[in-house]
Amino acid sequence: MTAQPTAQDDRRSSAPGRRVTDWTPTPAGGGAGCRIVDLPRITDPRGNLTFVEGGGQLPFDIARVYYLYDVPGGESRGGHAHHDLQQLIIAAAGSFDVLVDDGSGTARFHLNRSYYGLMVPRLTWRELGNFSSGSVCLVLASQRYEEDDYYRSYDDFVAARRAAEAAGEIPAPTSNR
Ligand code: TYD
Repeated sequence: MTAQPTAQDDRRSSAPGRRVTDWTPTPAGGGAGCRIVDLPRITDPRGNLTFVEGGGQLPFDIARVYYLYDVPGGESRGGHAHHDLQQLIIAAAGSFDVLVDDGSGTARFHLNRSYYGLMVPRLTWRELGNFSSGSVCLVLASQRYEEDDYYRSYDDFVAARRAAEAAGEIPAPTSNR
């Protein structure tokens, strides 16, 4: 699937070599409940600038920022879900893959542009891998670090996801296995 650049892209970007083709939503379109956020780009011959502000661009207030770097080739990160935490994941440098799973379907996003963020809602399993050399994974999070918010067991995550769906806290699955 190829998304078309928005009017905002046209206005703000003067980098014609860059294309909005770098993610692969599932055929059902759900992306396992995740979506790409197209961040503002201020292009400049001196170097480009992208910003993220609270109150509008994201559905949450940013409580924490962390980043993964110096990831050795072949290593993977993640392998967990959160009960409440929401995140925006950005390839600030280089590229990597994010596999997301809503307990009913999966989607794989290849992030390789510093002006795209992957919005990952609560109760979504995620695994990050295929890091390029020198890549930096920047994460904006809705909460401070709390180990109690993690599901590190996939089965526990699925059970919590089903309970939240049954309680109407989150939408029913967006895709099917
Ligand atoms: P974890 O979230 O499991 O890493 P990843 O999902 O990237 O593989 O965190 C790894 C360790 O770092 C774990 O011991 C908790 C700690 N940590 C913090 O102390 N603060 C944080 O903000 C994060 C994200 C992790």
